[in-house]
Amino acid sequence: SNLDQLYRQVIMDHYKNPRNKGILEDGALNINMNNPTCGDRIQLTLKVEDGKIESAKFDGEGCSISLASASMMTQAVKGLPVEDALKLAKIFYDMMLGNDYDDGSYDLGDIEALQGVSKFPARIKCATLAWKAMEQGVGKQEEE
Ligand code: FES
Ligand code: FES
Repeated sequence: SNLDQLYRQVIMDHYKNPRNKGILEDGALNINMNNPTCGDRIQLTLKVEDGKIESAKFDGEGCSISLASASMMTQAVKGLPVEDALKLAKIFYDMMLGNDYDDGSYDLGDIEALQGVSKFPARIKCATLAWKAMEQGVGKQEEE
C-alpha cells in the first residue's frame, strides 16, 4: 500500500541519514548492547539531567532496521523526561507485538514507520535493540 511505501521510505531515510549518530563524551551514560541472534551491536550514549534526556547519540553495526530504529529512538526521546521515554518504549514494544499501541498521548513521529516489523518476528529484536539500550541506560533494569 501507499502507507507501506511511505514507511519504507522513512526507514531508508533514517538508515542512510542517521540522526544523532556518534558518541557523547563528558560523563555521558554509555550502554553497549548486542543482538544475540546476529551479534550486531549498538553503543548508545545518553546525557540525562534533572530527570530529562538532554541528549542521545548512537553508534554501531547492524541491519537497516536496527540502525533506523536507533536513529528514530534517539530522535524520539531527546528532550523527553525519562518517564515519558520509558512510556514510549512500552508503546514501541506493543507496536512490535502487534498490539494496540497508540492511545494518542504521545507524538510517535517516525517510530510508527516500523510497525510493519511486527509481521516479521525474527526482526523484532533488531528493532527493539536501541530501545532496550535506552531502558538500560536510564536504569530501568535496576529497578525491576
Ligand atoms: Fe535476524 Fe535481525 S537477527 S534479521
Ligand atoms: Fe542484526 Fe538486525 S540483523 S540487528
